[in-house]
Amino acid sequence: MNILILGSGGREHVFADKISKSPLCDKLFIAPGNAGTAECGTNLAISPVDFTAIENACIEHQIHLIVPGNEDPLVAGIVDFIESNEKLSNVLIAGPNKAGAQLEGSKDFSKALMQKNNIPTAAYCTVEKHNIDEGYAFLESLKPPYVLKADGLAAGKGVLIETDLQAAKNNLAEMLNGKFGAASSKVVIEEFLHGIELSVFVLTDGKHHLMLPSAKDYKRIGEGDQGLNTGGMGAISPVPFADKLFIDKVEQRIVIPTIQGLKNDGITYKGFLFIGLMNVDGEPKVIEYNCRMGDPETEVVLHRVKSDLLELMLATCKGNINEVNLDIDEQTAVTVFLVSGGYPEDFVKGYEINGLEQITDSKVYHAGTKNEDGIFQTNGGRVLAITSTGNSIQEALTTSMKNAEIIQFTDKYYRKDIGLDLLKL
Ligand code: AMP
Ligand code: GLY
Repeated sequence: MNILILGSGGREHVFADKISKSPLCDKLFIAPGNAGTAECGTNLAISPVDFTAIENACIEHQIHLIVPGNEDPLVAGIVDFIESNEKLSNVLIAGPNKAGAQLEGSKDFSKALMQKNNIPTAAYCTVEKHNIDEGYAFLESLKPPYVLKADGLAAGKGVLIETDLQAAKNNLAEMLNGKFGAASSKVVIEEFLHGIELSVFVLTDGKHHLMLPSAKDYKRIGEGDQGLNTGGMGAISPVPFADKLFIDKVEQRIVIPTIQGLKNDGITYKGFLFIGLMNVDGEPKVIEYNCRMGDPETEVVLHRVKSDLLELMLATCKGNINEVNLDIDEQTAVTVFLVSGGYPEDFVKGYEINGLEQITDSKVYHAGTKNEDGIFQTNGGRVLAITSTGNSIQEALTTSMKNAEIIQFTDKYYRKDIGLDLLKL
């Protein structure tokens, strides 16, 4: 069968690499893809949110299954578009519909769902312009720091954390006045949770679910978690403290009530569910939901999944993931992102990348890369994710570090401390 993956990051290179190796895969297409996905299938110069172009590509290339990578097409309703399209009646799509994708697309929606279903999370108050005074009063009732979140998608930048009450009040007013455009016309104010963050991933067909490995990503640009936020500088899986007891609590108190709570509201959620958690003294509390896999978490989580990913995606669409055997590599995976100097601020693209052919003991997933006349070049802030496995975080990190030295491009930068904080716990 022919498959179409939507997206262009390291996550989509993992999907493409795994799906291309499935005996069920005939032709693989990636829209728009990168230089890594081009080695697994055919890249199509189509944006993941250009639904008309996706419809045309499905017809032209006789696509049987679409696998969305990033949240934008899901939140914009790609699943509803495909499933209601008479011309695409043979096309399956492995993701949540627009109603389900609100888990990521609206913080207010997800907080209300959690409250209704007694899912552990921070106390909150949703504020619009008309009830700003209620927002000020809620802020006064909290201890600092104060967490303010734009309700809608804000390219990962919509969360502000302030230690000063007056500054938090000013931020609230600025957000409601359009600081993040329409995304902050509603603002969720939250109690601050103290603990260690981690993420848990689930695949569900709406009736059954599979618990995928846990992961922790490293969002700051600098070592020791200093400096600006990025899309993610590296990740590890599994998280050492997320033992069976902790994961069982996540499954019973969060995963099952989330899927069931959505169903009670008439929403059958299919696809990946990414749950950002705070471990508060051994108790999991939800920080956020995402309606897709994470990047760079996919480069460690799905890297460890040995089962046929295409079979899993098909079962997600058909409602029988309970019949698929989930086979996980027991080793620890560490991924380290090589990024362009200057990222996450200004950086230069188009530098030649050398040394990729010398890497034998890590898997190199491409993100911001292109191939011009047979030469790999940088084409984004996050360039390559080097994933290694080993018996410990340290062993896997040592292999990724060795290979991070071998791969060369001008102004290359990477963190050397991915996962090391967890060894001190
Ligand atoms: P979010 O986009 O909701 O994941 O928030 C971005 C980041 O802000 C999270 O990864 C956390 O580090 C932090 N954060 C969000 N909500 C809270 C909270 N209630 N308490 C503490 N930190 C938070
Ligand atoms: N690494 C965080 C995300 O994919 O949202």
